[in-house]
Amino acid sequence: MSSDSILYSPYTLPCGITARNRLVKAAMEENMSSLGNVPGESLYSLYRYWAHGNLGMVITGNVMVDKSAMTGPGGVALEKDTDIAPFQKWAKIIKSNGALAIMQINHPGRQVFKAMKGKAIAPSAVPLDMGKHSKLFAQPREMTCQDIHDVCKRFVQTAKQAEKAGFDGVEIHAAHGYLLTQFLSPLTNQRQDEWGGSIINRARLLINIVSQVRAVCAKDFIVMVKLNSADFQKNGFSFDDACEVVNRLEALGVDVVELSGGSYEAPAMQGQTRDNTTLAREAYFLEFAQALVSKTEIPLMTTGGIKRAEVAEEVIEQGCALVGLASALAITPDLAKKWQQEWTYSGIIPHCAWKDKSLASLANMAMVRRQLRRLGNNLTTLRDPSPLWSLVLDMLHRKKMTKRDVG
Ligand SMILES: Cc1cc2nc3c(=O)[nH]c(=O)nc-3n(C[C@H](O)[C@H](O)[C@H](O)COP(=O)(O)O)c2cc1C
Repeated sequence: MSSDSILYSPYTLPCGITARNRLVKAAMEENMSSLGNVPGESLYSLYRYWAHGNLGMVITGNVMVDKSAMTGPGGVALEKDTDIAPFQKWAKIIKSNGALAIMQINHPGRQVFKAMKGKAIAPSAVPLDMGKHSKLFAQPREMTCQDIHDVCKRFVQTAKQAEKAGFDGVEIHAAHGYLLTQFLSPLTNQRQDEWGGSIINRARLLINIVSQVRAVCAKDFIVMVKLNSADFQKNGFSFDDACEVVNRLEALGVDVVELSGGSYEAPAMQGQTRDNTTLAREAYFLEFAQALVSKTEIPLMTTGGIKRAEVAEEVIEQGCALVGLASALAITPDLAKKWQQEWTYSGIIPHCAWKDKSLASLANMAMVRRQLRRLGNNLTTLRDPSPLWSLVLDMLHRKKMTKRDVG
């Protein structure tokens, strides 16, 4: 029970750095950057809540490695020449009360909104299939080998910048349908060269990035990878593929693999699949993590659907090193403290049950993002936000941010 639970025990990562407990704030894109796509007052206010939430580790929302390819409006980007002062302040706030600060770094590939007018590149020119919402997304262009090397270099440069800014580590985003996932999945990677075909080839870009980040950053810099346990689409990236990738990552000294799943097309990270796989009602990917634990030495973390201490504890008891929480920490940023005071306290994950699954998924995200903005404005969060009103507010916010970022 509570404070003597394994959840509150420290954990030392392979690089030698210790997280004070097993509870991790997982990445959530905030869309709250200041002008110039850098962190500013709203993000600082938001992260102060988590910094004081007794978490072992706080992972930022995804930070882009290329400012001309953003996952969304109001995003954060960190390139080789970006002024790191705002990032130094961000890291300092996150670490101010003992949590480790990890920056998630990402490239969207084809998952780019047309309105953002950004670069949409992908291993193959396969557009996103979001049914009647597909037209919201840009048509991707197939990447040249030069583009692939450029992306690799950018990930490495961003990781180095994160280290310079004082972050304890980075998490390379290879989940949820973004560029590195597009390389991993045979549905989106139809290349015939050394970057496509076998899982070894499809994983080459991720492996190159990880090994180069390891080479240029300090030995005790934490390197994590967020990986899909599968993409939950027919003939897509399978669990066997995931096991093979983890096997390769192990040789590179990765500190943690965070297991998630899905993409914009099949948002398994919200508990929905497109291939009829049934996910657990809470801790969606625990079964996959259990199956992987005995196959790898890499510490595992799983995120998705966790809002109760009992379930989080089960994740650790089943062999994961860390447990990730996202939505529940948007509504209750001090959930880790609340569980210490009241073990049975249940966090909240907003859930929209609309029939249009794509729209419901957008509403789920909108409800969470609304809470992030409220915390960024030092307002209390809402326990039961309206999906429709949250969606409207989210659209207005995104429109304002799009106008700011792209005119
Ligand atoms: C508003 C929002 C933004 C998100 N942004 C990211 C992101 O930037 N990077 C990432 O890896 N996952 C992102 N996620 C997914 C979460 O990290 C997590 O995998 C997913 O929400 C399932 O966990 P949960 O049930 O605890 O929310 C986001 C989720 C939400 C709700």
